[in-house]
Amino acid sequence: MKDLSPKKGDLDPIEIASIDAIRNLQLERLKWSLRHAYDNVPMYKTRFDEAGVHPDDLQSLSDLSKFPFTYKNDLRDNYPFGLLAVPREQIIRIHASSGTTGKPTVVGYTKQDIDNWADLMARSLRASGLRKGDIIHNAYGYGLFTGGLGAHYGIERLGATVIPMSGGQTEKQVTLINDFQPDGIMVTPSYMLNILEQFHKSGLDPRECSLKVGVFGAEPWTDAMRKEVEEAFDMHAVDIYGLSEIMGPGVANECVETKDGPVIWEDHFYPEIIDPKTGDVVPDGEMGELVFTTLTKEGLPMIRYRTRDLTRLLPGTARSMRRMEKITGRSDDMMILRGVNVFPTQIEEQLMSTGGLAPHFQIELYTSGRMDAMRVFVEINPDANDELSKTAAARMLTKRIKDNVGVSTEIVVGDPGAVARSQGKAVRVVDNRNKE
Ligand code: DLL
Repeated sequence: MKDLSPKKGDLDPIEIASIDAIRNLQLERLKWSLRHAYDNVPMYKTRFDEAGVHPDDLQSLSDLSKFPFTYKNDLRDNYPFGLLAVPREQIIRIHASSGTTGKPTVVGYTKQDIDNWADLMARSLRASGLRKGDIIHNAYGYGLFTGGLGAHYGIERLGATVIPMSGGQTEKQVTLINDFQPDGIMVTPSYMLNILEQFHKSGLDPRECSLKVGVFGAEPWTDAMRKEVEEAFDMHAVDIYGLSEIMGPGVANECVETKDGPVIWEDHFYPEIIDPKTGDVVPDGEMGELVFTTLTKEGLPMIRYRTRDLTRLLPGTARSMRRMEKITGRSDDMMILRGVNVFPTQIEEQLMSTGGLAPHFQIELYTSGRMDAMRVFVEINPDANDELSKTAAARMLTKRIKDNVGVSTEIVVGDPGAVARSQGKAVRVVDNRNKE
């Protein structure tokens, strides 16, 4: 793999500013953001008043912990435009995320918000090892999802050539990658595996393709998956994080030279980690729920937004700003089996280290007697598709999960193609509990 570390001179000065300079900027911007939310969004005024806090009470960054949290349900309760802090006419773009239940979560951006987002996405791509003049294949879905358009504007801002492919049409994805020779690809990690499969079906060697870097996010993925994809394509795989409520992709992005967890772009977003049960802020380095406050967002300021994502804050390395540890999961994804907490990423990790199996999987939760139980559907590798190999692989994976995760599972090893493929975010867990 090529060394793609960016030159220091190409970075935004704030990326490598002193911690003091970053904290001062954050404090100044946080004061503005709290005031902006309080003055313009009735929900924030009511909440702050009820909690007995006022924007003027914020004298230091740690005072933020006095302010109330915001939840996904607050967006639903104020559907569609109730949390906007500017007149609707100043909103130039709407996105929405579909959520499994109830109304979608609607977000809105002013011209300045879109401009900042493009800047931060360009910064994220630069951190990933991409440059002005590169060709970037964008396979994040276009539409209400923030992935496609968020990446698109960032690629243009970087001065690269965007191929606005969107998700799906896997055969065509591979044809275009071959014909257009992109330097980078942006796609969910699970869909990248489908693209990899299509390379093999088409008789093409993925290591020979032009791709130098993949910018993967929108769903949890493990370092084991990173290794698999990096080896398969002979390219760098870096992690991009974001969520629509806070902006979209590009809230944090890993640096290609370190690959040690996404750097949070702290000049625009203030992170806290809290104990999800008590709501108390925990020190850097401790695991908990990630909470974000936007520092510059005009259209939809978010104050102490509970992401449900579980991680911890780590000190800066390639940049001065803090990193977040690669996300292991969302509190919503946590399964509890006979008292043991299990995340889909833990299953992914064990699957990747079991020989003979393809990297695709889906978990089914069901009821066995009065207990919850888990079944994992996986696939045998096409080059060893026989009953003996299937039985051996099932035994091995069952044992690995029991030994390393601590739960008993039933493993169902299907033929190649048996596990449902994703075109965007993978559906890792199907909940059939209490269903006959
Ligand atoms: O998924 C934005 C995005 C698009 C990020 C493209 C990266 C690339 P939402 O649909 O609102 O926005 O979903 C946000 O996805 O709270 C996490 O649970 C999860 N997520 C996003 N990036 C990562 C990541 C987009 N790198 C939710 N690792 C977040 C793990 C991620 N989970």
